[in-house]
Amino acid sequence: MTPVRVWAPGKINLVLRSGALDDTGYHPLATVFQAVNLGELITATPATELSMTATGRDAHRIPQDDSNLVLQAARLLQRETGTTAGAHVAVRKRIPAGGGMAGGSADAAATLIACNQLWDTGLTRAELTALAAQLGADVPFALHGRTAVGLGRGDDLTPALTRGTYHWVLALQPTGLATPDIFAHLDTTADLPTTPEIDPELLRALGSGDPSQLAPLLANDLQPAAIDLRPELADVLQAAHRAGALGALVSGSGPTVAALCIDELHAHSVAAVIAAAEVSSEVLITSGPAPGARLLESGVG
Ligand code: C5P
Repeated sequence: MTPVRVWAPGKINLVLRSGALDDTGYHPLATVFQAVNLGELITATPATELSMTATGRDAHRIPQDDSNLVLQAARLLQRETGTTAGAHVAVRKRIPAGGGMAGGSADAAATLIACNQLWDTGLTRAELTALAAQLGADVPFALHGRTAVGLGRGDDLTPALTRGTYHWVLALQPTGLATPDIFAHLDTTADLPTTPEIDPELLRALGSGDPSQLAPLLANDLQPAAIDLRPELADVLQAAHRAGALGALVSGSGPTVAALCIDELHAHSVAAVIAAAEVSSEVLITSGPAPGARLLESGVG
């Protein structure tokens, strides 16, 4: 049997509005995700047991045991389908770990698709999406990709109509932030509504395809909490604005900062200026929207 290769995207939250903690232990969200072309590549090969390895960016920072979403995703698919087949899942990481870009969720989404193919278990995309939601709030979007409104925990997805390509500079930090810590800090510092809402202007701006219309509408309720826990993020945001970005915000629960640019050429110049400010461990350029998790031809990439 040949190995199965799957690619899955990272995401940026163009807007993230949080409601107050509900009695399920989650915060109701109103968010707009955009999948970006910075993604994870996973390769699943047949094996008698389940195992994983990770290489690439921040691989040393993620657990490679049962707590990893890769093994949780594979086990969930085994339970759901009753298959006793195993797999070795090799993750080639490019999305920063604990960075607010849903790298672990991308790995989980990719694993669901890869193992479903490898084991010939035949679940539909809709069935895989239901399993994805059990693994984490951001996993369904990693399957979905493109640009989408996320309600509920962020997993109730509706595609957003967008035009054009958006060019981003990503300023990475040397260590991650834990999403539960950010939400816990938010609970003690912000007055959160019961039902968060998205400004319809943002959806109109996405339809225009003009990044300068989108830029002033970028917003993240988690950003003040991320800055409180990681004060140097204020310097990163300031560096992005000084570098001439149209807008900049902390992605998801951080600490990655995403800076929106006019076009690819502009992104290169903004990236160079942010890098020179020495406020981040690495500066990358990416673009969106990108497709959701998908099977690759074997041997490609
Ligand atoms: O679903 P996921 O495992 O990604 O979420 C990690 C943690 O982040 C949750 O256990 C919860 O504490 C917090 N969270 C939240 N509200 C959300 C999403 C995540 O409080 N909508």
